[in-house]
This record gives sequence, C-alpha cells and structure tokens, in this order.
Amino acid sequence: MLIKRQPNGVDLPFASEITPREIFESRRSFIQKIAVGSIASASLLEMASREAFAASPAPQKLAARQNTSYVVLDKQTPYEDATTYNNYYEFGTDKSNPARYASALKTRPWTVSIEGEVKKPMTLDIDSLLKLAPLEERVYRLRCVEGWSMVIPWVGYSLSELIKKVEPTSNAKYVQFVTELDRDAMIGVRRRVLDWPYTEGLRIDEANHPLTMLTLGMYGEVLPNQNGAPVRIIVPWKYGFKSAKSIVKIRFVKDQPSTAWNSAAPNEYGFYSNVNPQVNHPRWSQASERRIGEDGFFTKKRPTLMFNGYDQVASLYSGMDLKKYF
Ligand code: MTE
Repeated sequence: MLIKRQPNGVDLPFASEITPREIFESRRSFIQKIAVGSIASASLLEMASREAFAASPAPQKLAARQNTSYVVLDKQTPYEDATTYNNYYEFGTDKSNPARYASALKTRPWTVSIEGEVKKPMTLDIDSLLKLAPLEERVYRLRCVEGWSMVIPWVGYSLSELIKKVEPTSNAKYVQFVTELDRDAMIGVRRRVLDWPYTEGLRIDEANHPLTMLTLGMYGEVLPNQNGAPVRIIVPWKYGFKSAKSIVKIRFVKDQPSTAWNSAAPNEYGFYSNVNPQVNHPRWSQASERRIGEDGFFTKKRPTLMFNGYDQVASLYSGMDLKKYF
C-alpha cells in the first residue's frame, strides 16, 4: 500500500494494483485500523453497521430496455464483486467498507438541485428523475485509476436528457457534481481524506456526450447504496473517480470547477482524467488493468485501451495535448 501525505495534510490512499489483490486488501484493512484509531471507535462502527444492515430493504427492481448501441461484449462482473469491492470514501477507504457501512445512508426522500447557468433551474426528486426519460440498460466498462476494472449493466439514460430540460445559458462551460455529505451516516468523513463533500466535474460537451449516463440502477435493480444510490454519474471513458456517487447538486458554471481528487493532488489526478495507457500515474503504470472477478494469481492483466475503448469520444479532444491535460 502506498500512502503519500500531501503538504496540505491530505492522505492519498489510492494505490495501484501492482500486488495481488489479496495482499493489497490486507494492507487496506491495516489502513482502516489507522482510520478508526481505537478499539472503542471500532466497536461503534460495528454497531452502526449492524443497525444499518437490519434497516436495509430488499433491492427494488428497475425495468429498462437494453440499448444495444452501448453494450460491451466483455463478460459482466459478478454482482457480488461489483457490490462488495467499492470505492466510496465517505464510508471508509477499505474496499469492503462501503458494502458494510453505506446502508446507513437514507436515499429517500432525495432531491437533486440543478442550478447555476441555466434558464430553468429545478429541484427534482428521485421519482421525477426515474420518469424524466426512458430507462435504458447499458453495459459499460469502468476503469479505476488504481488499475482495476469492471463491466457493469447500468440503468439510466444520457445526462443530456436532463441538460436539455434546464436549458443551459451560453455561459455554461462546465458542470460540477456535488455529492451528499451526511456526517451522521457517513463514517468515513470523520477523517479528512478528501475535502468533503466529494465533488466532480466535466466540460459541458463531455457532459452532453450521449455516453455520459445519469445512473439510477445496476443489474436491473435500483443502485445499492455502496454503488452510489440513489443517483450517480457514469462517464465510462474516464477513470472511475470521475463517476461521482450520490449526487445532490448539479451546477452549471463558467469556469472549470474544483473537484475532490484534483484539489487533493493536482499532480496525480487531472481534471480530465481520460483513461490513457500512455500517461502513467506518477506512482504507477496505467498500461494494463486487472478485471475484477477474473482474479487469480496467474491471471494476466489486460492491456488498458485508450479512452477505455470508447473511441467515439476522441473528437472531443482533437488538438489537445492529452499528456498536458491528463
Ligand atoms: N463518489 C463519491 N461520492 N465518493 C467516492 O469516494 N469514488 C470514486 C467513484 N465515485 C467515489 C465516488 C471512485 S475512485 C471509483 S473507482 C468509483 O466511484 C467506483 O464505483 P463503484 O464502487 O460503483 O465501482
């Protein structure tokens, strides 16, 4: 496990998968113990998680038509892996923490406020978002900056469906996603790993690209809390941290917005963060990846594809030096 303490006092627990996952995970649990700090607070976490599990309802089905234009043919990641090996730092930095603790988050009622440089600002609840456009199932690859990837059937629709409803003004050059910060439910925010709430952002043309998906479900069900319930964004050609979970605010802005990982370590996590096997992370290579669910000690890594294989976005970046704008 590689941890780097930044001058601003923020820990950077992202690590590459240079070691087998089992070893990597046992190191992560060591970090969790540091995060927890004491046996007393560890048992508080246990209690919180037991209460949360007792309260979690059965997953709700979400019917959607498959959009075959957006289906990668790679084998899908088993549901079990996709819902137990997560990054959702508001619930802790260990991969197993979100599945354990995120059910404490209350995802209904929930509203998303859409504001800033738009002619029609609005606040929508989850039922309105579920009805805003026909729900589609799309099977996307998601590549984490740490060097692993998954293939998941998401349910939702293009974010552009929502964008056209609010009518952005000509000043709307970027979109910022602000996510939930519930200090009672989110045990991970007791530690200043990032500046909370977690924020992300896209250029307006990236946000409007049909691949960018406002996501309300996966595997035919509403999103599990650990995967970003009740609503998140999926941007499949960018590293996974761009795909913000549990969104409460979408702001249309003139200038490039601040984003959580870019603010924490601008030299390591660029605003664009397009998947790019030619631009290494300063601490590890991005040339290949491990597909979660296919792990084995001798399993060969897969080569990482430019834009995660989504070549149709290349024109968004024509003329840009993607080493500079990483
Ligand atoms: N969103 C929030 N609010 N908090 C987070 O810590 N982690 C990001 C992203 N969205 C994160 C987040 C990272 S690093 C990744 S790789 C993906 O969520 C993981 O999504 P998954 O757990 O559904 O695979």
